[in-house]
Amino acid sequence: MEEKEEIERKQEERHTSWVKKVMVTLAIGEAVVIFVGIQFIPWGRANINLPVKAEPKWDSPKTRELFLRACGNCHSNQTTLPWYDVVAPITWIIRRDIDKGRAALNVSEWGLQENEAGEAADTVRNGSMPPTLYALLHPSARLSASDKEAFVQGLVATFGSEQKSEQKSKKKVSDSLRFFPVHEDK
Ligand code: HEC
Repeated sequence: MEEKEEIERKQEERHTSWVKKVMVTLAIGEAVVIFVGIQFIPWGRANINLPVKAEPKWDSPKTRELFLRACGNCHSNQTTLPWYDVVAPITWIIRRDIDKGRAALNVSEWGLQENEAGEAADTVRNGSMPPTLYALLHPSARLSASDKEAFVQGLVATFGSEQKSEQKSKKKVSDSLRFFPVHEDK
């Protein structure tokens, strides 16, 4: 009698572990299908690289080179992403940054929209740009101490260095007429 119970118990155990294996396999399969599936969502990859319309008057080719290297992926139309940026969902995260970065400052559409170039030197000096995580994952964006020094000077020479200043475009006229100009933080 006891033997029979023992056999039944073992069968039960075997069944449970089989069910567990199937569940795990299904879960992994699902994750793979989702991962592969999201690669077909075009948002993020569309319009990454766009034509250059107008560039600022760089103080030197070196400043331009450093800018495109360290900042260009998010602040120009000349975005060249390594393969690991083009894999969803990473591509969606970086795409949000590119869109927001271009909206703040785009050196390929110079003069066509208001921008925050006047803060560029400060962002490099205080280390807020390029963003830390981005610099960690993109070695080419890292600036050596001497590059950084030269770059800050180049940015000041090219864009000036007024804290929180904004290049005023025609659209900005109403703002500049305000008695207390409002800085809108996004
Ligand atoms: C990974 C993308 C990315 C890179 C690379 C990058 N930026 Fe930015 N940058 C952004 C985003 C996103 C914003 C908008 C921040 C916001 O709206 O909160 C921004 C904003 C700015 C602003 C506006 C002021 C501010 O702090 O919001 C300046 C100036 C700027 N960046 C300069 C630079 C410079 C100079 C470099 C290169 C050294 C650089 N950025 C590299 C994404 C990037």
